[in-house]
Amino acid sequence: MIPSYANFGGKIHGGILLSLMDKVAYAAASKHAGNYCVTVSVDGVNFLQPVEVGELVSLLASVNYVGRTSLLVGIKVIAEDVRNGSVKHTNTCYFTMVAKDDNGKPTPVPGLLLETAEDTRRFVEAIKRREFKEQYGREFDNARTKLATEQQLHLLQQERCQLGY
Ligand SMILES: CC(C)(COP(=O)(O)OP(=O)(O)OC[C@H]1O[C@@H](n2cnc3c(N)ncnc32)[C@H](O)[C@@H]1OP(=O)(O)O)[C@@H](O)C(=O)NCCC(=O)NCCS
Repeated sequence: MIPSYANFGGKIHGGILLSLMDKVAYAAASKHAGNYCVTVSVDGVNFLQPVEVGELVSLLASVNYVGRTSLLVGIKVIAEDVRNGSVKHTNTCYFTMVAKDDNGKPTPVPGLLLETAEDTRRFVEAIKRREFKEQYGREFDNARTKLATEQQLHLLQQERCQLGY
């Protein structure tokens, strides 16, 4: 990680890491798909520990799940201090990618060969991840349409805000 990647606090900018993750997700997805892929959504981006200038960052990617035209790529980011060999896990996240044909339309991707029990765990976990995400999306949309803000003002009492109107 070179100095020009740093933010004002001297740590590596989150956007640099996101950009690297997107490229790695693309590489894994397009290699499996045999086609260009686009990023559709990104889940679970949490920067657990800062990355320092000078650390060696490695991104480990795996195609965990495939649908018809979509692929879920899991990415683990680790940062190593090359001077003492210490390694820290800074992030794990999941990119949903879709393969496109030459006309820009979603196109089917090959199925996955699950070669190890770990591959199978990741595939099953991806199915659950997708189900929970869809369920959360539906429930939140439902709750939001029913949400009458003026009846929820008591929620603000414990929060660090004040009404300015
Ligand atoms: C993603 C995109 C291809 C979906 O197009 P669409 O015409 O709605 O296509 P479909 O409904 O057939 O969906 C294609 C696949 O994407 C999946 N998908 C669509 N929206 C999704 C979302 N928000 N989250 C997860 N998966 C999604 C569908 O489940 C489907 O997967 P499957 O074939 O494995 O079942 C289209 O919206 C697109 O091109 N978006 C722009 C992507 C882009 O440019 N990214 C770069 C960063 S800005």
